Amino acid sequence: QHQALQIAIDGPAGAGKSTVAKIVAKQLQLFYLDTGAMYRAIAYKVLKSGVSMEEEARVSQIAKHTEVVLDHSEERTVWCDGEDVTQQIRSPEVSRAVSVVAAYPEVRERLVELQRREAERGGVVMDGRDIGTHVLPKADLKIFLTATPEERAKRRWKELKMAGKDVSFEEVAQDMVQRDREDTEREISPLKPAGDAIILDTTGLSVDELVAKILMLAQEVVP
Ligand code: CDP
Ligand code: CDP
Repeated sequence: QHQALQIAIDGPAGAGKSTVAKIVAKQLQLFYLDTGAMYRAIAYKVLKSGVSMEEEARVSQIAKHTEVVLDHSEERTVWCDGEDVTQQIRSPEVSRAVSVVAAYPEVRERLVELQRREAERGGVVMDGRDIGTHVLPKADLKIFLTATPEERAKRRWKELKMAGKDVSFEEVAQDMVQRDREDTEREISPLKPAGDAIILDTTGLSVDELVAKILMLAQEVVP
């Protein structure tokens, strides 16, 4: 067990972050924090309240007064003000809205504070967009996962199909390109590899191969 080991996994949508982060966390007995789920929960709440995504002040207020709790058990339930939103936050509507909400400084400030507080509980694998650059700048290992846009869209589309969602590949691919652009171009904490991140292109790599690679890198940094 690695008490205070911190592993940051960043990258664009569909790169494989959450899949590998969960497995790596389990193998190393660290806990896993899905920071994207937090931004999604806020976007869900804003959509539900009928406030326009463009109203920065009101969206920031909502973020400040929303209680987001991530369950650390295998269930990985996501709670938003006591409501189980685990399924709802994966909808195409939330996926389209989330990067707008995530660009607002006050929304980020609030969630980053929660994320850092979680990291004080012990060793952690955290995945997101700004973990290595901003949330955990002193992480022991920083991984930046990439894959071609085609491959990432294919993965996400397959995933949605398997969950019984009837969406076209084009729609998934377009939404993804749009979200990646918004995440990359925003002013605060944009999606980009930290200077000391190890960049792994996952195109054509299996989940098992990827996990093995990251576990090997983790072995080298165990304090
Ligand atoms: O799983 P997927 O890659 O589709 O997205 P996610 O990790 O659930 O993140 C959803 C969105 O939240 C991202 O597109 C970003 O707009 C935002 N996000 C962020 O800004 N910073 C993070 N650390 C994590 C997510
Ligand atoms: O969290 P992120 O959006 O980066 O990606 P993910 O949700 O972990 O992965 C998206 C899909 O791609 C999942 O269904 C994974 O099983 C799959 N995947 C894959 O086929 N090959 C990889 N090397 C990594 C992920």
